[in-house]
Amino acid sequence: MPLEITPLNAPLGARVRGTRLKGDINPNHFQIIQQALLDHHLLLFPDQDITEAEQVGFSGLFGKLEIHPSKEHRSSVQQEIYRVSNVNEDGQIFSVDSYKAKYLTGTRIWHTDSSFRAIPSLGSLLRAAEVPPEGGETYFCNLHTAYEALPRHLKALVDTHCAVHSYDYIQTLVFGEKAHSFEQHEDLVQEHPMTRSHPVTGRTALYVSPHTISEIVGLSAEESRPILEEIYEFATQNRFVYEHRWTQNDVIMWDNRCTMHSVGSYDSARYRRVMLRATVSGDSPVHR
Ligand SMILES: [Fe+2]
Repeated sequence: MPLEITPLNAPLGARVRGTRLKGDINPNHFQIIQQALLDHHLLLFPDQDITEAEQVGFSGLFGKLEIHPSKEHRSSVQQEIYRVSNVNEDGQIFSVDSYKAKYLTGTRIWHTDSSFRAIPSLGSLLRAAEVPPEGGETYFCNLHTAYEALPRHLKALVDTHCAVHSYDYIQTLVFGEKAHSFEQHEDLVQEHPMTRSHPVTGRTALYVSPHTISEIVGLSAEESRPILEEIYEFATQNRFVYEHRWTQNDVIMWDNRCTMHSVGSYDSARYRRVMLRATVSGDSPVHR
Protein backbone atom coordinates (compact mmCIF):
# COMPACT_ATOMS: atom_id res chain seq x y z
CA MET A 1 0.00 0.00 0.00
CA PRO A 2 1.51 3.38 -0.94
CA LEU A 3 2.06 5.90 1.81
CA GLU A 4 -0.28 8.85 1.38
CA ILE A 5 0.64 12.24 2.89
CA THR A 6 -1.95 15.00 2.66
CA PRO A 7 -1.30 18.44 4.18
CA LEU A 8 -4.05 19.56 6.56
CA ASN A 9 -5.84 22.77 5.73
CA ALA A 10 -4.20 24.36 8.78
CA PRO A 11 -1.11 26.32 9.87
CA LEU A 12 0.71 23.02 10.45
CA GLY A 13 0.19 19.31 10.00
CA ALA A 14 -0.37 16.54 7.47
CA ARG A 15 -2.43 13.35 7.48
CA VAL A 16 -0.57 10.08 6.84
CA ARG A 17 -2.34 6.93 5.64
CA GLY A 18 -1.08 3.60 4.35
CA THR A 19 1.10 2.23 7.14
CA ARG A 20 0.83 0.65 10.57
CA LEU A 21 3.03 2.25 13.23
CA LYS A 22 5.38 -0.32 14.79
CA GLY A 23 9.06 -0.86 15.43
CA ASP A 24 9.58 -2.89 12.28
CA ILE A 25 7.78 -0.46 9.94
CA ASN A 26 8.90 -0.50 6.30
CA PRO A 27 12.18 1.54 6.36
CA ASN A 28 11.13 3.51 3.26
CA HIS A 29 7.92 4.51 5.00
CA PHE A 30 9.90 5.58 8.06
CA GLN A 31 12.21 7.75 5.97
CA ILE A 32 9.23 9.47 4.29
CA ILE A 33 7.55 9.98 7.68
CA GLN A 34 10.72 11.55 9.13
CA GLN A 35 10.86 14.04 6.26
CA ALA A 36 7.13 14.75 6.51
CA LEU A 37 7.55 15.60 10.20
CA LEU A 38 10.24 18.15 9.29
CA ASP A 39 8.03 19.61 6.55
CA HIS A 40 4.73 19.74 8.47
CA HIS A 41 5.75 19.68 12.21
CA LEU A 42 2.71 17.51 13.05
CA LEU A 43 1.54 14.22 11.55
CA LEU A 44 -1.90 12.69 12.02
CA PHE A 45 -2.10 8.90 11.53
CA PRO A 46 -5.77 7.81 11.62
CA ASP A 47 -6.93 4.25 12.36
CA GLN A 48 -3.93 3.10 14.39
CA ASP A 49 -5.35 0.30 16.54
CA ILE A 50 -1.86 -0.49 17.80
CA THR A 51 -0.53 -1.93 21.05
CA GLU A 52 1.53 0.04 23.56
CA ALA A 53 4.52 -2.10 22.55
CA GLU A 54 4.05 -1.12 18.88
CA GLN A 55 3.72 2.54 19.82
CA VAL A 56 6.91 2.33 21.88
CA GLY A 57 8.67 0.41 19.09
CA PHE A 58 7.79 3.00 16.44
CA SER A 59 8.52 5.99 18.69
CA GLY A 60 11.91 4.51 19.61
CA LEU A 61 12.99 4.74 15.96
CA PHE A 62 13.22 8.53 16.43
CA GLY A 63 15.50 8.33 19.48
CA LYS A 64 15.70 7.48 23.15
CA LEU A 65 12.34 7.53 24.92
CA GLU A 66 11.72 9.50 28.09
CA ILE A 67 10.23 8.10 31.27
CA HIS A 68 7.77 10.67 32.62
CA PRO A 69 8.61 12.17 36.04
CA SER A 70 5.12 11.45 37.39
CA LYS A 71 5.15 7.78 38.43
CA GLU A 72 1.40 8.00 38.99
CA HIS A 73 0.80 8.51 35.27
CA ARG A 74 3.09 5.82 33.83
CA SER A 75 1.57 2.78 32.17
CA SER A 76 2.16 -0.51 33.97
CA VAL A 77 2.36 -2.21 30.56
CA GLN A 78 5.14 -0.01 29.13
CA GLN A 79 6.89 2.44 31.44
CA GLU A 80 7.69 4.66 28.42
CA ILE A 81 3.96 5.32 28.00
CA TYR A 82 2.60 8.30 29.91
CA ARG A 83 -1.14 7.99 30.46
CA VAL A 84 -2.83 11.36 29.82
CA SER A 85 -6.09 9.99 31.10
CA ASN A 86 -8.89 10.57 33.59
CA VAL A 87 -9.31 6.80 33.86
CA ASN A 88 -7.23 4.43 36.00
CA GLU A 89 -5.80 1.32 34.45
CA ASP A 90 -8.54 -0.67 36.20
CA GLY A 91 -11.08 1.30 34.16
CA GLN A 92 -12.39 3.65 36.89
CA ILE A 93 -12.73 7.41 36.26
CA PHE A 94 -10.74 9.33 38.92
CA SER A 95 -12.54 11.59 41.31
CA VAL A 96 -12.31 15.18 39.98
CA ASP A 97 -10.82 16.17 43.35
CA SER A 98 -8.00 13.62 43.18
CA TYR A 99 -4.38 14.60 42.70
CA LYS A 100 -4.23 12.72 39.39
CA ALA A 101 -7.28 14.51 38.02
CA LYS A 102 -6.05 17.95 39.10
CA TYR A 103 -2.58 17.26 37.75
CA LEU A 104 -4.04 16.69 34.29
CA THR A 105 -5.62 20.14 34.25
CA GLY A 106 -2.03 21.35 33.65
CA THR A 107 -2.31 19.98 30.11
CA ARG A 108 -4.85 22.74 29.39
CA ILE A 109 -2.07 25.31 29.63
CA TRP A 110 0.01 25.80 26.46
CA HIS A 111 3.33 24.01 26.57
CA THR A 112 6.01 22.12 24.70
CA ASP A 113 6.78 18.75 26.30
CA SER A 114 9.69 18.30 28.72
CA SER A 115 11.11 21.81 28.44
CA PHE A 116 12.05 21.46 32.14
CA ARG A 117 14.77 19.00 31.11
CA ALA A 118 18.33 19.85 30.00
CA ILE A 119 17.55 17.76 26.91
CA PRO A 120 13.90 18.44 26.12
CA SER A 121 11.75 16.32 23.86
CA LEU A 122 12.24 15.99 20.11
CA GLY A 123 8.66 14.90 19.64
CA SER A 124 5.70 13.20 21.24
CA LEU A 125 3.41 10.51 19.86
CA LEU A 126 -0.07 10.51 21.34
CA ARG A 127 -2.63 7.79 20.67
CA ALA A 128 -6.32 8.30 21.38
CA ALA A 129 -7.43 5.06 23.06
CA GLU A 130 -10.75 6.52 24.30
CA VAL A 131 -12.20 9.92 23.44
CA PRO A 132 -15.06 11.90 25.00
CA PRO A 133 -18.07 12.62 22.76
CA GLU A 134 -17.45 16.35 23.22
CA GLY A 135 -14.52 18.49 24.34
CA GLY A 136 -10.96 17.35 24.93
CA GLU A 137 -9.63 18.67 21.62
CA THR A 138 -5.93 19.38 21.36
CA TYR A 139 -4.66 22.70 19.99
CA PHE A 140 -1.27 22.86 18.29
CA CYS A 141 0.61 26.06 17.57
CA ASN A 142 3.28 26.58 14.88
CA LEU A 143 6.20 28.33 16.63
CA HIS A 144 8.14 28.88 13.40
CA THR A 145 5.47 31.06 11.83
CA ALA A 146 4.67 32.70 15.18
CA TYR A 147 8.35 33.64 15.54
CA GLU A 148 8.58 34.96 11.99
CA ALA A 149 5.55 37.20 12.53
CA LEU A 150 6.56 38.52 15.98
CA PRO A 151 6.56 42.30 16.37
CA ARG A 152 10.09 43.72 16.31
CA HIS A 153 10.30 44.53 20.04
CA LEU A 154 9.35 40.97 21.02
CA LYS A 155 11.67 39.43 18.45
CA ALA A 156 14.57 41.50 19.81
CA LEU A 157 13.79 40.25 23.29
CA VAL A 158 13.38 36.55 22.52
CA ASP A 159 16.47 36.55 20.30
CA THR A 160 18.64 37.69 23.20
CA HIS A 161 17.12 36.13 26.32
CA CYS A 162 16.78 32.81 28.06
CA ALA A 163 13.87 31.71 30.23
CA VAL A 164 13.71 29.53 33.32
CA HIS A 165 11.68 26.34 32.79
CA SER A 166 10.64 24.49 35.93
CA TYR A 167 8.63 21.30 36.42
CA ASP A 168 7.47 22.61 39.79
CA TYR A 169 6.03 25.70 38.10
CA ILE A 170 3.39 23.45 36.45
CA GLN A 171 2.39 22.25 39.87
CA THR A 172 2.37 25.78 41.23
CA LEU A 173 -0.04 26.79 38.43
CA VAL A 174 -2.26 23.76 38.97
CA PHE A 175 -2.23 23.42 42.76
CA GLY A 176 -1.35 26.97 43.80
CA GLU A 177 1.78 25.75 45.60
CA LYS A 178 4.60 23.27 45.16
CA ALA A 179 3.28 19.75 45.45
CA HIS A 180 6.44 17.91 46.49
CA SER A 181 4.53 15.76 48.92
CA PHE A 182 2.80 14.01 46.04
CA GLU A 183 5.84 12.74 44.26
CA GLN A 184 9.60 12.69 44.35
CA HIS A 185 11.57 13.63 41.29
CA GLU A 186 14.97 14.95 40.39
CA ASP A 187 15.37 18.71 40.29
CA LEU A 188 13.92 19.64 36.91
CA VAL A 189 14.79 23.31 36.35
CA GLN A 190 16.56 24.56 33.23
CA GLU A 191 17.39 27.77 31.44
CA HIS A 192 16.77 27.65 27.70
CA PRO A 193 17.02 30.30 24.97
CA MET A 194 13.64 31.80 24.05
CA THR A 195 14.27 31.00 20.40
CA ARG A 196 15.93 27.92 19.02
CA SER A 197 17.32 26.81 15.70
CA HIS A 198 15.76 23.56 14.57
CA PRO A 199 18.64 21.05 14.79
CA VAL A 200 17.78 19.49 11.41
CA THR A 201 16.27 22.26 9.27
CA GLY A 202 18.07 25.21 10.92
CA ARG A 203 14.83 27.25 10.84
CA THR A 204 14.29 29.45 13.88
CA ALA A 205 11.34 28.88 16.19
CA LEU A 206 10.08 30.65 19.25
CA TYR A 207 10.83 28.39 22.22
CA VAL A 208 8.41 29.12 25.03
CA SER A 209 6.27 26.93 27.24
CA PRO A 210 3.73 28.85 29.34
CA HIS A 211 3.19 26.04 31.84
CA THR A 212 6.87 25.74 32.76
CA ILE A 213 8.37 29.24 32.37
CA SER A 214 8.61 30.97 35.73
CA GLU A 215 10.59 34.00 34.52
CA ILE A 216 12.92 35.48 31.90
CA VAL A 217 16.57 35.28 32.95
CA GLY A 218 17.77 38.73 34.06
CA LEU A 219 14.26 39.95 34.90
CA SER A 220 12.22 39.37 38.03
CA ALA A 221 9.14 37.14 37.88
CA GLU A 222 6.98 40.30 38.16
CA GLU A 223 8.84 42.06 35.33
CA SER A 224 8.71 38.92 33.19
CA ARG A 225 4.98 38.23 33.54
CA PRO A 226 3.49 40.94 31.26
CA ILE A 227 6.16 40.33 28.60
CA LEU A 228 5.54 36.58 28.66
CA GLU A 229 1.78 37.12 28.47
CA GLU A 230 2.24 39.36 25.42
CA ILE A 231 4.36 36.69 23.71
CA TYR A 232 1.92 33.88 24.55
CA GLU A 233 -1.08 35.85 23.38
CA PHE A 234 0.64 36.67 20.11
CA ALA A 235 1.86 33.12 19.44
CA THR A 236 -1.46 31.41 20.13
CA GLN A 237 -3.57 33.44 17.73
CA ASN A 238 -5.84 31.30 15.52
CA ARG A 239 -3.66 32.00 12.50
CA PHE A 240 -0.88 29.85 14.01
CA VAL A 241 -3.08 27.14 15.54
CA TYR A 242 -4.55 23.81 14.40
CA GLU A 243 -7.42 22.43 16.48
CA HIS A 244 -7.65 18.64 16.43
CA ARG A 245 -10.90 16.86 17.30
CA TRP A 246 -9.88 13.33 18.18
CA THR A 247 -11.28 10.12 16.78
CA GLN A 248 -10.47 6.85 18.55
CA ASN A 249 -7.20 5.33 17.27
CA ASP A 250 -5.84 8.60 15.93
CA VAL A 251 -2.12 8.92 16.58
CA ILE A 252 -0.57 12.37 16.35
CA MET A 253 3.14 12.94 16.36
CA TRP A 254 4.32 16.51 16.83
CA ASP A 255 7.73 18.15 16.80
CA ASN A 256 8.27 19.69 20.26
CA ARG A 257 11.15 21.80 18.90
CA CYS A 258 8.85 24.07 16.91
CA THR A 259 5.31 23.63 18.26
CA MET A 260 3.39 23.85 21.51
CA HIS A 261 0.02 22.42 22.44
CA SER A 262 -2.82 22.58 24.94
CA VAL A 263 -5.93 20.52 25.66
CA GLY A 264 -9.49 21.80 25.63
CA SER A 265 -11.70 21.09 28.63
CA TYR A 266 -14.25 18.27 28.74
CA ASP A 267 -16.60 16.82 31.34
CA SER A 268 -14.02 14.65 33.09
CA ALA A 269 -16.46 13.49 35.79
CA ARG A 270 -18.69 12.00 33.10
CA TYR A 271 -16.64 11.14 30.02
CA ARG A 272 -13.60 8.93 29.61
CA ARG A 273 -10.52 10.25 27.87
CA VAL A 274 -7.54 7.91 27.59
CA MET A 275 -4.56 9.21 25.66
CA LEU A 276 -1.28 7.31 25.61
CA ARG A 277 1.91 9.25 24.98
CA ALA A 278 5.42 8.17 24.07
CA THR A 279 8.00 10.96 24.29
CA VAL A 280 11.22 11.02 22.28
CA SER A 281 14.21 12.79 23.80
CA GLY A 282 15.92 15.41 21.62
CA ASP A 283 18.73 17.96 21.73
CA SER A 284 19.72 20.81 23.97
CA PRO A 285 18.03 23.96 22.54
CA VAL A 286 20.50 26.27 20.79
CA HIS A 287 19.95 29.52 18.90
CA ARG A 288 22.58 30.00 16.22
FE1 LIG B 1 1.89 17.90 26.48
